[in-house]
Amino acid sequence: MTTCATELLDKLASRRAIVAVIGLGYVGLPLIRAVAESGLTAIGIDTDPTKIEMLKAGRNYLKHTGGEWIAPLVEAGRLRPTGDFATLAEADVIVICVPTPLTRHMQPDLSYVEATARSIAPHLAPGRLVVLESTTWPGTTTEVLKPILETSGLSCGRDFFVAFSPERADPGNAEYDATGRIPKVIGGDGAEAREAACAFYGLFVERIVPVENAATAEAVKLFENIFRSVNIALVNELKVVYRAMGIDIWQVIEAAKTKPFGFMPFYPGPGLGGHCIPIDPYYLSWKAKEFDVRSQFVELAGEINSAMPRWVVDRLAEALDRSAGTGLSRAHVLVVGIAYKKNVDDTRESPALRLIELLESRGARTSFHDPWAPVIPPTREHAALGGRRSVPLDPATIADYDAVLIVTDHDNVDWSALAEARLVVDTRNRAEREGLAGPRLVKL
Ligand SMILES: NC(=O)c1ccc[n+]([C@@H]2O[C@H](COP(=O)([O-])OP(=O)(O)OC[C@H]3O[C@@H](n4cnc5c(N)ncnc54)[C@H](O)[C@@H]3O)[C@@H](O)[C@H]2O)c1
Repeated sequence: MTTCATELLDKLASRRAIVAVIGLGYVGLPLIRAVAESGLTAIGIDTDPTKIEMLKAGRNYLKHTGGEWIAPLVEAGRLRPTGDFATLAEADVIVICVPTPLTRHMQPDLSYVEATARSIAPHLAPGRLVVLESTTWPGTTTEVLKPILETSGLSCGRDFFVAFSPERADPGNAEYDATGRIPKVIGGDGAEAREAACAFYGLFVERIVPVENAATAEAVKLFENIFRSVNIALVNELKVVYRAMGIDIWQVIEAAKTKPFGFMPFYPGPGLGGHCIPIDPYYLSWKAKEFDVRSQFVELAGEINSAMPRWVVDRLAEALDRSAGTGLSRAHVLVVGIAYKKNVDDTRESPALRLIELLESRGARTSFHDPWAPVIPPTREHAALGGRRSVPLDPATIADYDAVLIVTDHDNVDWSALAEARLVVDTRNRAEREGLAGPRLVKL
């Protein structure tokens, strides 16, 4: 074992190591909390000055992670939010949690990872461990991150170490809301890198799952998300097929999941959302082309899932025609829920935004109600929707809408108001569970 590795392991074992987390979003913020609460000193770096100022003031910008934990850690000097990359000179472990989106042409956009690596390189010193947590194609850690870090003049594997460890957060999942409860897959560029990364995460994660190398760990994350994407596509396809046959997919799933082995329920919906499932699978299909192989399931699942919003709008138009004779082009539709999933405020890639655009492109007027996401944030993809505000879900006014379209079934929505609605089109099977039945309800 190199001297650098031994010294790093000693610092970790005695919890004297200083940890920097770069990118304090949905992944980085819960991570830095776990690091700081484990007794390590944590430097939090983000290029968004608003986030840094809020953290310094003890406030959180991510509702679902609460805010009470921030001020005590900041006051104790255990959590140091900053926009200054020079502070990396103090850090023994650096964890990268920056975005990995797609370009307009659906290709991996590693510009955030590359920019971060370039910001780290001038401050890299012997004995450092750099871990990438951003989801990406197998090979990124060694083919992209490592060469940029080596522009520092230091040699990876001798002077410093790199590893990949995917984030598996499930925002809004109360059972697994603490970072330490979710098993952590870790692959290093070499055995020493893996050992150092396992020693680091072992300080605050209950179960460590080492794998052969960084590429394997990268592949694990993509497999997990492709597994979801493909199964959601399958159940979305079956929803369309069974509906044509007059069979309720929701009843089919409830009955099928009583099978005690060999079945796992997935649920249909209005389309995929969030920063992971609609995006990550394309990282694999892009990389696969380099090896002259195709990932057909990935592409087919993408096609089926992205066709869902249009299918939902067609069914809503049919339902409107049947109900009061108001065509979609003259209808006022209330969309309930714009977050991509229940009980979170994240609207990234949310199918609700696509649905609103499709409805309006067919002449409908829309309003939305979302107690978690009261304002649509500005985005490049849905620029015209940015700034729109949630309206109340009020039993006294709900009948003013020609239809209510349930896209996200947050638990804190006042579902009882639906009793007065003229037509409810439900993509989440929520209304029936809230006691609504009869011809005014269309389950998709
Ligand atoms: N959101 C999830 O549930 C989830 C789950 C698993 C994996 N991931 C992956 O984790 C990564 C991060 O996702 P996220 O949801 O936390 O994104 P996010 O957008 O919530 O957070 C990213 C943060 O990085 C900051 N940032 C951007 N460029 C930076 C730079 N050069 N230096 C410092 N900070 C920078 C942004 O200001 C932002 O605060 C992505 O690769 C994503 O695919 C996300």
